Amino acid sequence: MQKTDRYPRIQIRLHWLVFGLVMCTYLWVWTAKYLLAWSPELSHFFWLMHFFFGGLVFVFTCVRFVVQKMLQRYIPDIVPPIPRGQYWTAVVVKILLVVVYWLIPLAGYLYRCKKGATLDLYVTVLQARCEVDMTSAQMWHSIHVNTAYLALALIAVHSGFVLYNHYVRKNNMLRRMLPSKAK
Ligand code: HEM
Ligand code: HEM
Repeated sequence: MQKTDRYPRIQIRLHWLVFGLVMCTYLWVWTAKYLLAWSPELSHFFWLMHFFFGGLVFVFTCVRFVVQKMLQRYIPDIVPPIPRGQYWTAVVVKILLVVVYWLIPLAGYLYRCKKGATLDLYVTVLQARCEVDMTSAQMWHSIHVNTAYLALALIAVHSGFVLYNHYVRKNNMLRRMLPSKAK
């Protein structure tokens, strides 16, 4: 494998796959909770989709973390380079994005488990194996919801910075993360 002007293809695919899964997970929960509250059956379907997609986000965030570590040396440089302070701030934001998309699904699962609820993931139903503890359930609930909204702010900072570099600084930051046919 050689270093090119793009991220390795697998990393590009994983990046946009996780992005799509994350967006759908938010969409399903808002649809279930706010748009379809009048129909318990329909909203139940979207709740299950929320759990399932949330679980996939957890799995693919783990996969991408391993792939990122393995292929680090093939990541192309940013040309022209950006100031050091901004580079490291962007790195911290990217690390936080990985951490929150581990924490959010985990907290969602622990909330359900501590409440004594089963978790239907389509492919399997996980029985609650935790000791029921409503205080702890409440804690995981607020971690889940607050971190999920904080993560949206992180996405805004991350993508805003990328778009600023693309349109204002006109460097290759975004192009490195696009499929090779895209200009
Ligand atoms: C990346 C993954 C996930 C994201 C971004 C996410 C996001 C959210 C958001 C934004 C809400 C709050 C909606 C609102 O009240 O305005 C929520 C609620 C909820 N999520 Fe998730 N979630 C994820 C994964 C999961 C998983 C894996 C589970 C379960 C295993 C789960 C279970 C729940 C539950 C039970 C609620 C309802 C809380 C309530 O009734 O107030 N979530 N989620
Ligand atoms: C759910 C939303 C997002 C998450 C969790 C996320 C996460 C990440 C992470 C962890 C990286 C480091 C490389 C890797 O592991 O693949 C990265 C790089 C990157 N992301 Fe995102 N990203 C998101 C959305 C976006 C959006 C909407 C854009 C475009 C506007 C974008 C553009 C980029 C670019 C260009 C890079 C390479 C930047 C660099 O090397 O400095 N990302 N992203």
